[in-house]
Amino acid sequence: MTQYIDVSDVAEIVQREGLPRVISAMAGYIESDYRDWEKFDKSARVASHSAVGVIELMPTANETLYAFKYVNGHPQNTFSALPTVMAFGVLADVSTGFPLLLSEMTLLTAIRTAAMSALAASRLARKSSRVMAIIGNGCQSEFQAIAFHTMLGIREIRLFDTDRAASEKLQRNLAAFPDLEVTIALSAEQAVLGADIVTTVTADKTNATILRPEMVEAGMHINAVGGDCPGKTELHPDVLLHARVVVEYEPQTRIEGDIQQMPADFPVTEFHHIVSGQQQGRSSEQQVTVFDSVGFALEDFSALRYLRDLGEKHGVGHQLNLIPSLDNPKDLYSLVRHEASAGVALDKASQASEAMSPADHV
Ligand SMILES: NC(=O)c1ccc[n+]([C@@H]2O[C@H](COP(=O)([O-])OP(=O)(O)OC[C@H]3O[C@@H](n4cnc5c(N)ncnc54)[C@H](O)[C@@H]3O)[C@@H](O)[C@H]2O)c1
Repeated sequence: MTQYIDVSDVAEIVQREGLPRVISAMAGYIESDYRDWEKFDKSARVASHSAVGVIELMPTANETLYAFKYVNGHPQNTFSALPTVMAFGVLADVSTGFPLLLSEMTLLTAIRTAAMSALAASRLARKSSRVMAIIGNGCQSEFQAIAFHTMLGIREIRLFDTDRAASEKLQRNLAAFPDLEVTIALSAEQAVLGADIVTTVTADKTNATILRPEMVEAGMHINAVGGDCPGKTELHPDVLLHARVVVEYEPQTRIEGDIQQMPADFPVTEFHHIVSGQQQGRSSEQQVTVFDSVGFALEDFSALRYLRDLGEKHGVGHQLNLIPSLDNPKDLYSLVRHEASAGVALDKASQASEAMSPADHV
């Protein structure tokens, strides 16, 4: 049977484990899969664009497991009481093709994105980083804040969103972390002033300039999460021009990331080179670093792998009758044989009834 893990199952698992621990462990799974980079089938995700958003399929596989995620991005959704980003995914056995796990991935995506952001920052940001700005305070933002607090030792977070209610929600949700100082800024400029790390995680289908060159200070690390689609960027091109830019999978990020604004030969480093030690993180305390995050299938693979382990550990999830279980694997028809003969019998009965003259009906 296929294991099915729904939204309340994931919420229960995360509450039992504690979100900070889940994020850190998720980062460990992602890092381990990035170490095995060469073993994965890799491709840019398949995107179906419309005027208001995008629907994407994100597949990848190694020798033993195959995964895909279905995910959308519709920045206007929140006006219809739907999240901007919604997702589900499958983990399957490569040796048979059997789907082992079907899972919700809206929560899981927020967790894996935050884990990936913090993992990248752990290699790129200055070790002394304590202050972070978060521009865009929607669904992803709590996860980002908690990931950087847990994994990077961030102590102070400054928030800015064009919707002040979103910032107030984030501030309320972070009140559970007493050693985290959280303030709401009046502008993006005010939020980033003196910050060691800036996370941009806005949703707007436009070439926005959330960060302009004059807002960037020497040594800053920029975690650019919201620019993840053609025509949807967050950084002024000159911010990228003067920074060390790290990406997940270059062929996908050239299309979707903030670097879509740059010439095709603009130099970038794939993150796996840093994980493997082939390339260093930042070269100096003054260097500006950018993680141009778009979300890569390998991270969802890691997320599903981790969730499967957590589901087993906590005994959470359901058995889903998704694939036929057959006594004779060549006899799929056996599943419908009874109903089919009953259908034929019914058909014959109704034909006989129609053939009777009205007088035959009593
Ligand atoms: N890179 C990745 O792996 C990854 C993963 C998940 C989501 N995302 C992207 O992250 C972004 C945020 O996702 P979410 O689920 O939090 O969306 P959301 O709609 O819940 O929140 C987005 C917030 O951005 C704010 N915003 C929009 N324009 C702004 C601006 N100019 N300045 C300040 N704030 C602004 C909105 O008011 C909203 O509160 C989306 O663009 C999504 O596509 C990327």
